[in-house]
Amino acid sequence: MNEIIRIEGLVKRFGDKPALNGLDLSVHEGEIFGYLGPNGAGKTTTVRVISTLTDYDSGKVVVDGHDIEEEPYEAKECMGVIQQQISLDKDLTIRENMIVHCMYHMMGKKEREERIAELSKYVGLEDYLDRTVDSLSGGWKKRAAIICSVLHSPKVLFLDEPTAGLDIQARRLLWDLVRALNKRGTTIFVTTHYIEEAEILCDRVGIIDHGRLIAVGRPQELCETVGSTVVEYTKEDETTEYRCFRNRDEADEFAKGLGSYENLLVRKTNLEDVFVELTGKAAGEFQ
Ligand SMILES: Nc1ncnc2c1ncn2[C@@H]1O[C@H](COP(=O)(O)OP(=O)(O)OP(=O)(O)O)[C@@H](O)[C@H]1O
Ligand SMILES: [Mg+2]
Repeated sequence: MNEIIRIEGLVKRFGDKPALNGLDLSVHEGEIFGYLGPNGAGKTTTVRVISTLTDYDSGKVVVDGHDIEEEPYEAKECMGVIQQQISLDKDLTIRENMIVHCMYHMMGKKEREERIAELSKYVGLEDYLDRTVDSLSGGWKKRAAIICSVLHSPKVLFLDEPTAGLDIQARRLLWDLVRALNKRGTTIFVTTHYIEEAEILCDRVGIIDHGRLIAVGRPQELCETVGSTVVEYTKEDETTEYRCFRNRDEADEFAKGLGSYENLLVRKTNLEDVFVELTGKAAGEFQ
């Protein structure tokens, strides 16, 4: 498995507070990598440092063989970035935004017109090209921003919470687009607060907390690290308790001992349980 991103001991401080505190991370070429963590964990900072939008204090970041400090231009050419806040120019049309992006990446007129036509057709964006950014719905804006960011054919696409605030239909359309780009060979690095999204979309998932990676693996593997079965039940004080167990037998045994609790449920562990178990935060705190 080829490593397309390698991060070693990355430290980024704001004042004397570390946002990234010795982060080690490896992303494989061709995968969809999900990056999860509570608010303030350091996800956006990671994306901004790798994509050279923010400097860092120490450590090493290598993208497709290019150290971002030694070869920033080569590293940048390998990447496309969708930031948490959409960065399309609102005064321009979608097509004009695309042209600006292509010019920034030194693409010639013929190449740029071909790429814009090909990718717009591919996602059904042709009818929107001459509309201004603000006249599009949130979902279409995101699709347009994504297409814009891959016009120069980056090897890796970073998406920082691409589906935040979108309805479920728009979210699913975006997942289809991400999958399609991935099938065409783009490695995807996506941060999200939607655990379901990570479970459905990602080949591997990394969980970050306090600026360090605390777990990484396939969703199924991560579930097994905390135990394959969960017992969930509502206590007298109306709070819900979750307990992870290595197997179904141990979970059933524990559930039997509980007697008649309300909403008692024995079920398979999901990524949300892993999240709660490892970060110590309640599920609602992740949104
Ligand atoms: N420009 C900045 N100036 C000062 N502190 C910052 C700045 N940007 C981020 N931080 C701090 O760095 C830490 C990590 O922030 P970051 O935005 O990377 O978290 P995040 O995981 O993306 O969170 P969220 O889920 O809310 O988007 C936080 O403590 C945040 O307050
Ligand atoms: Mg963020």
